[in-house]
Amino acid sequence: MLEGKLVNLRVVEKGDLEEIMKWVNKKEITKYLSYFLYPISQEEEEKFIEKALRHNDSEKNLVIETKDKEYLGQINLHNIDWKNMNAELGIVIGKEEYWNKGYGADAIKTLLDYAFHQLNLYKVYLRVFEYNERGIRCYQKCGFKEERRLRKSHFFERKFYDVIIMGLLKEEFESQVNQR
Ligand SMILES: CC(C)(COP(=O)(O)OP(=O)(O)OC[C@H]1O[C@@H](n2cnc3c(N)ncnc32)[C@H](O)[C@@H]1OP(=O)(O)O)[C@@H](O)C(=O)NCCC(=O)NCCS
Repeated sequence: MLEGKLVNLRVVEKGDLEEIMKWVNKKEITKYLSYFLYPISQEEEEKFIEKALRHNDSEKNLVIETKDKEYLGQINLHNIDWKNMNAELGIVIGKEEYWNKGYGADAIKTLLDYAFHQLNLYKVYLRVFEYNERGIRCYQKCGFKEERRLRKSHFFERKFYDVIIMGLLKEEFESQVNQR
């Protein structure tokens, strides 16, 4: 269990299936996510949970919950590259009523602390669609900087959008912690 100020991050459990199924096919949420092209069945989600339960050196999936243990969403590090000491971050808060209240930033900072100080990673990066202004603002708050734009690389509702790559180095995270 990783403890933040507003949230805790814990391992995925079989009992999370019901909560995950509540958001996984909601367009207002999945329009911001990369891997949700087709509707997702309960069986597919069960496989995701089974995979998350197995030890995997290149991926860590965690559940975000409130201090009262209410399920909020998922956060993960994937494509973990141990040689180059970096990983890609993904996050979703599946309950819209919890957006814009600082839960996302707190979950990310908690995972970053673990990534830099326990896993000994040096860099965490992510991909975000240009229309995800809330996500971009949240990442900036956590210290991420735009590194690159993949022009018109994401197709959504008849239009192409830029995909922004943002990154954060360990020393940048440290200097931010000292400023807090
Ligand atoms: C992106 C996400 C994880 C952020 O979590 P969150 O708890 O909503 O984020 P926070 O409250 O910590 O920060 C959001 C910030 O964006 C700001 N914001 C909201 N809408 C905005 C907009 N349209 N333009 C600019 N800023 C906006 C908020 O005011 C807040 O900034 P502030 O604290 O300075 O006021 C969450 O909203 C989510 O899961 N969204 C759906 C899935 C998703 O987008 N996942 C990420 C894919 S890359």
